Amino acid sequence: MSKFWSSVVNNLKPYTPGEQPKVPGLIKLNTNEHCLPPSTEAMAALGNVSSEALRRYPDPESTALRRAIANAEGLSEGQVFVGNGSDEVLAHIFQGLLSSNDSLVAPDITYSFYPVWAALYGLKLKTEALLADFTIDVNRLLQHPESILLANPNAPTGRALTLAEIKRLVDSNPDRLVVVDEAYYGFGADSASSLLTEAENLIVTRSLSKSHALAGLRVGYALGSAELIEGLTRVKDSFNSYPLDACAQSVATAAIEDTQWLSRSSALVTENRDRLTQDLRDLGFEVCPSLANFIFVQHPQHEGRDLFEYLRAKNILVRRWDKKPIANFLRITVGTHEECSALVQCLKERCAP
Ligand SMILES: Cc1ncc(COP(=O)(O)O)c(C=O)c1O
Repeated sequence: MSKFWSSVVNNLKPYTPGEQPKVPGLIKLNTNEHCLPPSTEAMAALGNVSSEALRRYPDPESTALRRAIANAEGLSEGQVFVGNGSDEVLAHIFQGLLSSNDSLVAPDITYSFYPVWAALYGLKLKTEALLADFTIDVNRLLQHPESILLANPNAPTGRALTLAEIKRLVDSNPDRLVVVDEAYYGFGADSASSLLTEAENLIVTRSLSKSHALAGLRVGYALGSAELIEGLTRVKDSFNSYPLDACAQSVATAAIEDTQWLSRSSALVTENRDRLTQDLRDLGFEVCPSLANFIFVQHPQHEGRDLFEYLRAKNILVRRWDKKPIANFLRITVGTHEECSALVQCLKERCAP
């Protein structure tokens, strides 16, 4: 508390990002970074950024990047908004679009930044419980008149809705906004982007942090109707007109254009994920079926907290939340083949039947 803080700031409970410890030899499986290095085309673009490009301000509209994304999605440039990570894009959606009403609805177990933005922008966040298998309950969400926000695949469960289920939500009421956070795009879940040719009330957000192995670059984007995108641009230009620096724009454009890298690397991650899922099931773990680059697991005979501490002592960092009903679960990022094998070996020593 400070007398200099506004009442909003006094009441904020900020989001706590996953730890980024710099421990030598640490197997870091706690923040869902990609297990491979980024595309060599993207790295070459970083090397090619000129001193002149750094001396000048960057393109405030990120034209080349927006064009590359539009081409990849079969949309127009006016349907693409880019920001400094999808976190920033989502924050602008809260301020510029969701705040046109005073409440919205989201699943109760989901990305824990959503309640923080709701509080920051003075919105009431209503929640609907997940079903027992951790899938999102579409029927319950449909009973609400408010705008809907969901992550697909959901975090931290990894479970995804089908395109038909998202379409049901979008079609149920053209006057309500549906925000689909596709931060984990590329690892097997349906994308809602194909609905954008028809739907005016849908906005899809994506991140280059996971799918393109560029978490350090901080680039995310939104796809939607030109009207929705213009709303976000108005917020951006009243907040920070140059959110993406020259390096971020060049690297992200090259990464988006390297579509082969995306398909090859996603195939490797999904292969590692499916093998890790099977290996942990063989050790007695219950593993949520995941379409993301992480898995959500619990062991019926071992407490999540104990397993978390045990792995940490072995220099393997995963993530867990001390809250019901997920306190017994661990969220584990899909690592390289070697990282997954080391994890399985450690857990075998602890949990093998
Ligand atoms: C569901 C979800 N949405 C959005 C983000 C934000 O991603 P970024 O800001 O790195 O693009 C994350 C990050 O972990 C996430 O899990």
